[in-house]
Amino acid sequence: MRAMARIGLLTGGGDCPGLNAVIRAIVRKGEDVHGHELVGFRHGWAGVLADEAMELHHGTTSGILHRGGTILGTSRTNPYKDDGGSARVHQTLAARGIDALIPIGGEDTLGVARKLADEGVNVVGVPKTIDNDLAGTDFTFGFQTAVQIATDAIDRLHTTAESHNRVMVVEVMGRHAGWIAVYSGMAGGADVVLVPERPFDVEQVCDSLRRRHESGRTFSIVVVAEGAERAGGDGPTAGEGVVDEFGHARLGGIGVDLEHEIEERTGFESRVTILGHVQRGGTPTAYDRVLATRFGVAAIDAVSDGAFGTMVALHATAIRQVELEEALREPKLLDPALYDTAEVFFG
Ligand code: F6P
Repeated sequence: MRAMARIGLLTGGGDCPGLNAVIRAIVRKGEDVHGHELVGFRHGWAGVLADEAMELHHGTTSGILHRGGTILGTSRTNPYKDDGGSARVHQTLAARGIDALIPIGGEDTLGVARKLADEGVNVVGVPKTIDNDLAGTDFTFGFQTAVQIATDAIDRLHTTAESHNRVMVVEVMGRHAGWIAVYSGMAGGADVVLVPERPFDVEQVCDSLRRRHESGRTFSIVVVAEGAERAGGDGPTAGEGVVDEFGHARLGGIGVDLEHEIEERTGFESRVTILGHVQRGGTPTAYDRVLATRFGVAAIDAVSDGAFGTMVALHATAIRQVELEEALREPKLLDPALYDTAEVFFG
């Protein structure tokens, strides 16, 4: 990589607390230390397809460290979905004189990055997902913030559950993996946690609630990941049948079904709360700001070193580079030992 280069960056997929901290870190180190020029594409890959971008500077990325969302905007656009999409990406990058690209995203955004890398584009990825299900890294930024938001909600639902002698079903995000469900369930003292990795039997869930109530408890908290599915079922509950450009169904609604079934089968009054996008909004926790900042600095350093086709990652406490291939092979599912630990406190 030449000493002073033009580096593009973009944020793709679902937004995530900490994205602005990554952008700020890339620009700050890229401009001030490496002397690069930074170009931010708007709305993920959509901005590359449409050649919609803005120059990023130290001054214009000040004051965003603590802000949720992304100043660049994001989308679930897939340039490989339409014929000619990848050619347009190459055209934009050439026309803007982009020497390297830093896509900040999850499996979909980085999947596009890997294909572009195969086609000769210099890319370094930054892992992002509140679901924490991207392989190759121990944690992604945004996850801890989502867990904190879900835990705060469970704490609040606890007191109202107790007052009304109710079963509270809390639906949290987690498409392929139950990381948010297990972490927030453990932190919030949930009595049942249902995750995509372990298909559930609703009668067994009801049995465990009955046992709990027979032993004198008058309320219960059930945390369910949106991607959880019934044993022998047809897959997770999909809302409205909508599918995005990467083929993912819009999930949501398993909690509503559970509320009705639990009440019907056990007679315990039940209520559902779907936390939804509340988990992705607002300010990142201090941990996520620090992780995002470390990822941003490591990504621009990797670009300057010419370490292309890689993704920055957290391994224990150190920031490393892994091959994009490794991160994308398969989703990072729950550690079974973690679920076993959570299970000790069920019922
Ligand atoms: O991929 C992260 C995620 O938050 C999933 O947990 C969830 O299913 C999905 O995004 C929701 O996406 P959207 O913002 O498009 O509704």
